[in-house]
Amino acid sequence: MAALSTSEVELPASSRFAGQKLEISITEDDIHRRVKELADAISHDFRGKQPIMIGVLNGSFIFMADLVRALDIDFEVDFIKLSSYGKDTATSGTVRLLKDISADITGRDVIVVEDIVDTGLTLKFLRARMTEAGPTSVTFVSLLLKEEVANLDFPLDYVGFNIPNRFVVGYGLDADQKMRGLGSLYAFKEN
Ligand code: PRP
Repeated sequence: MAALSTSEVELPASSRFAGQKLEISITEDDIHRRVKELADAISHDFRGKQPIMIGVLNGSFIFMADLVRALDIDFEVDFIKLSSYGKDTATSGTVRLLKDISADITGRDVIVVEDIVDTGLTLKFLRARMTEAGPTSVTFVSLLLKEEVANLDFPLDYVGFNIPNRFVVGYGLDADQKMRGLGSLYAFKEN
């Protein structure tokens, strides 16, 4: 794979996007700075509580790891695995539950950790799934939000960056399951 934070990256020959180029969208340094700010805000707001941080697989695994390591409150972790994109760069319009949470969240403070809110479909699914279990509170944090396309009837509690409506890759997000290890966030280069 290409170096982890170069300004331009070519997708590998093994990818169905082989030969296409990615250009940097948000640098690794800017992401780390913003993740620390989000963690500080969450630590402040949840002081004295012990939230369960629920990472939404696969895309949030890197953000989740960085975010929880920057918290200075007690917390637990769990994961839920959903899929809405499949192999495409546009949402399928259907959210599939591939792995449910294991923890009992009844009476708990839940913080759902997403990498990106695009159409908002996944978030609506998550809210319904969490609420039915009777938690004390449900809070949503997303590193990225496509504000101009997200169709939400409730606000996100913490957002890292508002981004334009372009397909983004890296820092946990994939192009056909590849490139999740890029340290920065990239967008497909327009010709
Ligand atoms: C991505 C992302 C979010 C969801 C957002 O997941 O991680 O969970 O799409 O899109 P939406 O707002 O339009 O619902 P994806 O289905 O690509 O699976 P992945 O996390 O395993 O890559």
